[in-house]
Amino acid sequence: MTNNQSTKGLSRIDGRLKVTGAARYSAEFAPAGMVYGVLVGSTITKGTIKSIDSKAAERAPGVLSVITHQNCPRIAGYQVEPGKKEPEKGTYKLFYNNKILFNGQPIAIVIADTFERALYAASLVKAQYNAAEHNTRLIDQKHEAFAPEGDGTSKRGEADAWKTAPFKLEQEYIIPSEVHSPMELHAIIAKWDAADRLTVWTKTQGVQDTRDGIASIFKLPRENIQVNSKFVGGAFGSALQVWPHEVAAIVAAKLVKRPVKLVLGRADMFTSVGYRPHTWQKIGIGATADGKLVGITHEAIGQTSAYEDFNEGPIGVSRATYACANVNTLYKLSALDIGSPTWMRGPGEATGAFALESALDELSYQLNIDPVELRIINHADTDPESGKPFSSKYLKEAYKLGADAIGWSDRKTKPGATAQNGWLVGYGMGGGMFGAYRDKAAARVVMKDDGTLLIQTAVSDIGPGTGTMIVTIASEEMGLPAEKIKFDLGDSSLPLAPSQGGSGTTATVGSAVYQACTDLKENFQKLAGNGGTDKPDYAAILKRNNLQKLEVTSTTNGGPERDKYAMYAWSVHFVKVLVHPATGVVKIDKAVCVADCGHVVSPKTARSQLIGGAIGGIGMALMEEVVIDHRYGRLVNNNFADYHVPVNADIPQIEAIFVNKPDPYINPMGAKGMAEIALIGMAPAVANAVYNATGKRVRELPITPDKLLGKDGAMES
Ligand code: MOS
Repeated sequence: MTNNQSTKGLSRIDGRLKVTGAARYSAEFAPAGMVYGVLVGSTITKGTIKSIDSKAAERAPGVLSVITHQNCPRIAGYQVEPGKKEPEKGTYKLFYNNKILFNGQPIAIVIADTFERALYAASLVKAQYNAAEHNTRLIDQKHEAFAPEGDGTSKRGEADAWKTAPFKLEQEYIIPSEVHSPMELHAIIAKWDAADRLTVWTKTQGVQDTRDGIASIFKLPRENIQVNSKFVGGAFGSALQVWPHEVAAIVAAKLVKRPVKLVLGRADMFTSVGYRPHTWQKIGIGATADGKLVGITHEAIGQTSAYEDFNEGPIGVSRATYACANVNTLYKLSALDIGSPTWMRGPGEATGAFALESALDELSYQLNIDPVELRIINHADTDPESGKPFSSKYLKEAYKLGADAIGWSDRKTKPGATAQNGWLVGYGMGGGMFGAYRDKAAARVVMKDDGTLLIQTAVSDIGPGTGTMIVTIASEEMGLPAEKIKFDLGDSSLPLAPSQGGSGTTATVGSAVYQACTDLKENFQKLAGNGGTDKPDYAAILKRNNLQKLEVTSTTNGGPERDKYAMYAWSVHFVKVLVHPATGVVKIDKAVCVADCGHVVSPKTARSQLIGGAIGGIGMALMEEVVIDHRYGRLVNNNFADYHVPVNADIPQIEAIFVNKPDPYINPMGAKGMAEIALIGMAPAVANAVYNATGKRVRELPITPDKLLGKDGAMES
């Protein structure tokens, strides 16, 4: 599939466990006495439940209980203080009242002694509704959009300055909703150990945040809650919060006094754990004849739910990416009768970059300036928002590496100018950026007298290879071979770690591990009493001192450099596409993704992460789209036959390239995050390549063949 296998660096430390099935995911535990929960979803989109008949389900074989809003035990964190009004928006409250806010909303959970019996009994639960008129259509709602909290407007320099530029355009760009579609289904096993003590195994990107979320919903002390999530089969943002199905399992386990397992079906994955919100954007952009940007106006309306304001700020990219004196933005939300959206890989930026990077490409044709050159002309040498210097930025180098690797010099400016075996050939590029975050975290390292090192932190590994990265850092710091290092994670009782999100794990948790190793080495040097050597014999020192082990726990945080420097990671994606003029089929011939993410700690897993993000971006560009039947407010394509994600045959060749120069300020490893930038900018790169091949500018994703063919079925260019 790819031609640049990285041979340097550790192979995935848990790879064998995963491919042999030995890795146990959240649904694969079996506490004694475990029973099964299945949710029943609303069949209307908005309104109220008139009545629920659960008698037949209760009488069905093996059923222990059916819980609805009528008999749900009081959930402490949902209650409104006496004298206070129920807030109009906020946390979604499961089984709280008879209101229906979206199609598929859980209205009951059936608990039975086997999964099959629970599933059958769930089919017997019948509800009567008073349906109200719903709206699930974003574009119809544009006029009703409202500003999110914190205001969606911003202005740098003059508003609408682009209108004064000699070269300009104003266009609308739309992305549909997309779902995360991880391989592993969301699943939870909830087990009450006492009236106020709970253990859960659940799919989460952060065991401690999930612990704290459960603690606040059930008003329990957080130390009474144990959350385990040792292996996670992908999440992409879908496991950053406590979802209703988790609350349902916890409530059910309490009521039936047995551990309850609840696994979402694939169809539920489309409606119950968030998605990237359907978003309309408009960009006005203008430049002088020599390509200098005069102004950008970026408007966006993002879809949210009726009960929660989800704000992902897609307009931020226009303020932060290029040097441009005049930028104004306007962001609004439109509340639809659909479950809430959530963070999805490159949240905000991936959406915004589709508009901005497409608009820049359009401008490049007007100006007759190469798209790469246009970006170099407008390269931001300092952060355009704050004026601060960047902690590091090697984006120009990334452009060069990517352009060389794709063969950019073969690109013809005139669209539709090149054909190859009957296919039109096109080249396109698009850039991405994302804040390089670093948060507070802690790590415990334990050196044992057999010479092995144990590392513990509560971080989750949702698939990027966190364990491999951690072991690499410890191995280099301690001078120990990787085989002697064990890494323990995904357990809320371990030292502090934030959720795995926002591409922050290496910078955050990696720093804590680095610090803990440094501190441990220092302790060994003191123990050895001789100033130490670079590679001390840890086991021998312990034995000499009659110690079985030596351990330290170290905590780190983002340093004061954060105030002095703007910290971002950068990417650029180059794509060569083939488009068939008769069928409108788009094939990715080759893609090159270049990341400027500082020092690459774990080359093999970083490479697969960069490729994975690019594939996500190709899905976004060419196939992924949630389709709702607006008459019923119900998803049409809630399965992998109808909702297309890229498969191997769609992805012939992706080259992953890293600038690989350390950032001097972000952390001791010099590493920035790369998960989000792997995807951000990929979709516009594909769209821009399709335009170069065909002369057809598709401004609404995904770029399906029907959008490339004219009314008579032939491609017009
Ligand atoms: Mo993510 S959207 O940082 O999991």
